[in-house]
Amino acid sequence: MNLHSHISLVGFMGSGKSTVGKTLAHALQCPLLDMDSIIERRKRKSIATIFAAIGEEKFRAYERQLLLELVNTPQPAIIVCGGGTPCFADAIDMLNAYTTTFYLHAPAKILHARLKNEVAQRPLLQEGKKLRKFIKGLLAQREPFYRQAKFTIYTAGKTAREVAAEVVATGV
Ligand code: S3P
Repeated sequence: MNLHSHISLVGFMGSGKSTVGKTLAHALQCPLLDMDSIIERRKRKSIATIFAAIGEEKFRAYERQLLLELVNTPQPAIIVCGGGTPCFADAIDMLNAYTTTFYLHAPAKILHARLKNEVAQRPLLQEGKKLRKFIKGLLAQREPFYRQAKFTIYTAGKTAREVAAEVVATGV
């Protein structure tokens, strides 16, 4: 199958964006543009280190600049956004204008189970002492952005392959 335009994946940390992105890129034989990995490669630092060094505001500005670059790449690709990417500035509008957007939905309980052992790698989570409550609150703030994606895929109880197959089944 030939991809005609970019596919972008949005959703909360731990929703499986990177794994599903890899599966999709492999299945559709197209490039994978994973924003967090690109940032880490270019800066030669982990996201946690970058966050600590420049703060969230500058990180968001850098992320927006990168998104603008990625949506304008000529070859159709799978763009994996960071969890916060579509929730700042005009990012969700940019994503909807240049890509087919997919929200990978997972309930807070599942996100909590996946994220509780990853606090050290996820800068935003370090702030939250009561992790479950923190996830619920941030998810509620972000859902209005995620929900603007063209498609919502419910991921609970599904493997990355199954989620990727649902993306492909939309006919993108
Ligand atoms: C963030 C999510 C992370 C990363 C950064 C900020 C967020 O990406 O971009 O730590 O604001 O939710 P993942 O969703 O890939 O973990």
